[in-house]
Amino acid sequence: MGEECTIRKMMFHDIDQVLEVERLSFPSPWSRNAFEAELHDNLFAHYFVAEQDETIVGYAGMWMVLDEAHVTNIAVHPAFRGLNYGKRLTQELIIQAFKLGANRITLEVRVSNLVARNLYKGLGFREVGVRKGYYSDNNEDAIIMWKNIQLSNDYVSCDEGRG
Ligand SMILES: CC(C)(COP(=O)(O)OP(=O)(O)OC[C@H]1O[C@@H](n2cnc3c(N)ncnc32)[C@H](O)[C@@H]1OP(=O)(O)O)[C@@H](O)C(=O)NCCC(=O)NCCS
Repeated sequence: MGEECTIRKMMFHDIDQVLEVERLSFPSPWSRNAFEAELHDNLFAHYFVAEQDETIVGYAGMWMVLDEAHVTNIAVHPAFRGLNYGKRLTQELIIQAFKLGANRITLEVRVSNLVARNLYKGLGFREVGVRKGYYSDNNEDAIIMWKNIQLSNDYVSCDEGRG
């Protein structure tokens, strides 16, 4: 993978491609209305896309709540997983959260989602608790993860995938 990879703010015209990633990534995908409302109406929401050759290959979002960032979603198109896009998108959230005044960042992840748990642990998130039955589709528990933000993280490039 040698082509340019860009992380930038999500825009309205990205939503079609974002929905494709969303539907391929989650058992209960968000609707178009949900994304439109996040971009248009929610002043606390910040969404980013990873783009390669004008194709959206992943996206990530968060809400800023005082000095905390709450991650809402991170997903990478199945055809582009294992290529560092998830890591880059998560790092972008951390960096943007810091710039927007956050000291801490948190998220929930399914107990069974070992890939995502590895991703977050690798970026310094700690598992601090469990929300029982948090996911309504299968009643699965969520692991709650937190990270104190200190911008000593390296910024990896898209080219460092495991190949
Ligand atoms: C979770 C997800 C975003 C990861 O994206 P990705 O682009 O494939 O991940 P990356 O290539 O950036 O890998 C980052 C880290 O994830 C972990 N990881 C990635 N693929 C993995 C695999 N197949 N097995 C185990 N760990 C894996 C590793 O810790 C990796 O870091 P490393 O390369 O330093 O070992 C992606 O799998 C996805 O979209 N899943 C479906 C949606 C989802 O579950 N989102 C998270 C909701 S909380």
